[in-house]
Amino acid sequence: MTLLSFVVALLLLQCAAAYPELFNNLAYRSPSLRFPTDSVLAHDVGALARRHTKRDGSTARYEGGLYFPYGIASGDPLADSAILWTHPVVAGGNTSLPVCLQYQTAKDDKITQVVDTGLACTTSDVDYSLKVETKNLKAKTRYYYRFSTVGKNSTSSPVGSFKTMPRPDDATVDKLTLAVFSCSNLPYGFFNAYRKASARTNEVDYFTHVGDWIYEGKAVKGALEERQFEPRIEIAHLDEYRQRHAAYRGKDENLRAMLQNYAALTVWDDHEVADNTYKDGSADSNNTKAGYVNGIPFSERKKNAVKAYYEWMPIRQVDTTDKLRIYRQFQYGKLADINMADTRQEDRDITDIYYNTAYVKSISNDSSRHMMSNKQRDWLSQKITSSSATWKVLAQQVIFNNPLTPGSNGTFDENYDAWSGYKATQRHFMQTISKVNNTIILSGDSHAAWAFDTVPVETMSAYDPKTGAGSIAVEFAGTAVSSTSSYGKNLTTSQYNARAQQLVRKNANLQFAEGQKRGYFVLTLQPHEARADYWGVVDNNDRNSDEVLVATMTVEKDQNRLKRPLNGGNNSTGGAIQGLEGYTG
Ligand SMILES: *[C@@H]1O[C@H](CO)[C@@H](O)[C@H](O)[C@H]1NC(C)=O
Ligand SMILES: *[C@@H]1O[C@H](CO)[C@@H](O)[C@H](O)[C@H]1NC(C)=O
Ligand SMILES: *[C@@H]1O[C@H](CO)[C@@H](O)[C@H](O)[C@H]1NC(C)=O
Ligand SMILES: *[C@@H]1O[C@H](CO)[C@@H](O)[C@H](O)[C@H]1NC(C)=O
Ligand SMILES: *[C@@H]1O[C@H](CO)[C@@H](O)[C@H](O)[C@H]1NC(C)=O
Ligand SMILES: *[C@@H]1O[C@H](CO)[C@@H](O)[C@H](O)[C@H]1NC(C)=O
Ligand SMILES: *[C@@H]1O[C@H](CO)[C@@H](O)[C@H](O)[C@H]1NC(C)=O
Ligand SMILES: *[C@@H]1O[C@H](CO)[C@@H](O)[C@H](O)[C@H]1NC(C)=O
Ligand SMILES: *[C@@H]1O[C@H](CO)[C@@H](O)[C@H](O)[C@H]1NC(C)=O
Repeated sequence: MTLLSFVVALLLLQCAAAYPELFNNLAYRSPSLRFPTDSVLAHDVGALARRHTKRDGSTARYEGGLYFPYGIASGDPLADSAILWTHPVVAGGNTSLPVCLQYQTAKDDKITQVVDTGLACTTSDVDYSLKVETKNLKAKTRYYYRFSTVGKNSTSSPVGSFKTMPRPDDATVDKLTLAVFSCSNLPYGFFNAYRKASARTNEVDYFTHVGDWIYEGKAVKGALEERQFEPRIEIAHLDEYRQRHAAYRGKDENLRAMLQNYAALTVWDDHEVADNTYKDGSADSNNTKAGYVNGIPFSERKKNAVKAYYEWMPIRQVDTTDKLRIYRQFQYGKLADINMADTRQEDRDITDIYYNTAYVKSISNDSSRHMMSNKQRDWLSQKITSSSATWKVLAQQVIFNNPLTPGSNGTFDENYDAWSGYKATQRHFMQTISKVNNTIILSGDSHAAWAFDTVPVETMSAYDPKTGAGSIAVEFAGTAVSSTSSYGKNLTTSQYNARAQQLVRKNANLQFAEGQKRGYFVLTLQPHEARADYWGVVDNNDRNSDEVLVATMTVEKDQNRLKRPLNGGNNSTGGAIQGLEGYTG
């Protein structure tokens, strides 16, 4: 322990003694504990505790009615703990006093066999977010939880549920099922993907969102008022990010159901901050006057976005001295390591922001370019190469392989806002992955579904698209929950399918592509194989749409390539499968 961390620990103990229930709320303690160094991101919990402690040592707290319009959530489960979240709203709208809630974690959904309980308080300083860690739980166990006011006439939140993970050394686990999502744009369509997946509780263990959980844009013309963005402006200030998160929670019951039924494993992409972010800017903002949005520079905007994300999402801060660190690992026994990475907000060099595409393309292979810090890169590589689990899952944002996609003028090019724009970092990970068996890359961001054999650029000519020989891993990339297809808006079904066909013809290692349907995929990991079932919503303008199984892609243990015949030898339900009418060399 360094002197600094000792002093910090001592100070924290003091404020814990002053008003422990405030200290229990992790929203005050993430993403940073460095007050006042990390302004916006850190709180002076001691001052807060003193402010709400009366002369006689008793603590002030709100005693009135409250309700839970934003629901509850759990996330980042370990073998013995999980994060629980809620966001009470006081009757009448506001109070200057701390709002205190009891949390109860139980073995049953009636909350009678309580195994862990505690009290935590929240205030307007953290937008009334309330985040606690429930502890001393048993591994591989389903739990139920709720929040309640203390005292007579107690009000309770809905009851939520989550499963703890197996212990990292547990060699007996034989299945892990993740529902994987990305790109949920509230005014662009219904969250049918969440509605369908939230009903799969017999099958799905956790839900994973690889980013674009919220969008930062302004109100969308023609959108249903019940799904419209709030506030209606493009967001940049802390209050605005908070209101945007609140609008998502408050307006969408399917999103609340996902959070209620499963523990979440989430990472951000660009839109949690702004479109096409890199370390110090985005498509429309930067730190020069011309790049101020709502009057503030990008670096302030980013802090605000990060702060609101930590307040609203049930995630852990794994290192409170590394405020931008969201990358972290979960170990699911010996079956799988789930590595959640951040290719977006943490030390990413300049990306494609539309007007600089040619420039970013010209530097995309520079060895000095970073897609993430060396610290994260080396951490991830080490986690993958030293893993003793069968499956090494790399859950991250943007497409890892380099598909050529058609531009507006009919020519094909790579997407320089994805790994294609950072070839040195990509090469580093290709080398890492080639040292081990059974890496599975999960991606989002692209608003279309893809399955790749992962092939280093240098050895692509030796790759055999028929058998997959030459592939070192697989990549499963999911379509958006609701964001518009990257193939284009309002094409006909045959136009969408023709585009998918064109893509698999152009890209030898792209084995499946589909771009019409919104949806998600279910990843099932077992000791002998991993399987991705791609689910597509039939009509995302219909709030009660059904879903169809678009395709199933599997990979057998130690094969590092998609299993042939692809999709059991059948065409996918829309889109295109390589071989059936694809790559001809
Ligand atoms: C109990 O609390 C609810 C909600 O806060 C309130 O509407 C109700 O009037 C209260 N009942 C009593 C008897 O205090
Ligand atoms: C709630 O009260 C706090 C101060 O206690 C204030 O900063 C905040 O603006 C108030 N919010 C609303 C919506 O009135
Ligand atoms: C900053 O952003 C503005 C608005 O998008 C843009 O016009 C300008 O070129 C950017 N400046 C830099 C240095 O990136
Ligand atoms: C990209 O960079 C690598 C490593 O410096 C080099 O071997 C390769 O030839 C470069 N590729 C292109 C297309 O310039
Ligand atoms: C097509 O557009 C790309 C950029 O999107 C540009 O690099 C290329 O030169 C254009 N080709 C033609 C033939 O206009
Ligand atoms: C696309 O289709 C939707 C639903 O059919 C329709 O409301 C919208 O106007 C269409 N947009 C365009 C640009 O044609
Ligand atoms: C990968 O699997 C193959 C086939 O079972 C095996 O020969 C090889 O040793 C494995 N490699 C590693 C690094 O475990
Ligand atoms: C194609 O799909 C059908 C029905 O879904 C299935 O019965 C059949 O076995 C599949 N074909 C192959 C070659 O697996
Ligand atoms: C798959 O679809 C293509 C295009 O519609 C068709 O030509 C081909 O016969 C189909 N193959 C199978 C196995 O159904």
